[in-house]
Amino acid sequence: MPTPAHTLRLVEASAADLDRIMELECLGFAASHQEQRSAYAQRIATFPRGSLMAWRGADCVGCVFSEIWQSTPEPDAAHFELGHDIRERHAPEHGTELYISSMTLAPHVRGQGLGTALLRGCMAHAVQAFPGLRSAVLLVNANWAAARRIYAGAGFVEVARLDGFFGPSGGAPEDGLVMRRPLRHA
Ligand SMILES: CC(C)(COP(=O)(O)OP(=O)(O)OC[C@H]1O[C@@H](n2cnc3c(N)ncnc32)[C@H](O)[C@@H]1OP(=O)(O)O)[C@@H](O)C(=O)NCCC(=O)NCCS
Repeated sequence: MPTPAHTLRLVEASAADLDRIMELECLGFAASHQEQRSAYAQRIATFPRGSLMAWRGADCVGCVFSEIWQSTPEPDAAHFELGHDIRERHAPEHGTELYISSMTLAPHVRGQGLGTALLRGCMAHAVQAFPGLRSAVLLVNANWAAARRIYAGAGFVEVARLDGFFGPSGGAPEDGLVMRRPLRHA
């Protein structure tokens, strides 16, 4: 039976997924906004529970990465630097905030509602394993309309604006928006 269009199967990533992760990274982000392979390798090694590959049927169509932070009222630009080492802030024992560091879908499956499924799946997976989580936070480029719409639809609200955070990718620097939402437990 074919998999329903909105259904994603989320599977914890391993080092064997790094080639696909980097393909998705190149398809999803301009070169100046791409993470290095080593950053993803570190995330998988440190927090496999928060490193998820998304499958639709036999097709690996996306990935999402997260870490657990001690909550900071207003995270600043240093929290979100490209290439930051997950081990700097990841605190799974005491942290209460899920930081969603990256989310990408392959171009051929965009526009079908899977972005929302991927985001919600990531949060559900984390909350199940870490009942102490109270909120989720992320940074989005102010000009990435599809991502902003998904986050707003999932209840994220803007809590800070980082002027010119995203360096030029052919044009002027672009602002980053820090967005946050509460996490509820079943
Ligand atoms: C972000 C991403 C995962 C979303 O994928 P998706 O679920 O297929 O997104 P959609 O194309 O369905 O768009 C989501 C919503 O934004 C809307 N949207 C898309 N492009 C838009 C635009 N240019 N302007 C306004 N709204 C737009 C869609 O209509 C949709 O709204 P709806 O659900 O109310 O119909 C995907 O675009 C992606 O991988 N992008 C590259 C990487 C990226 O930007 N990741 C996010 C980093 S923060």
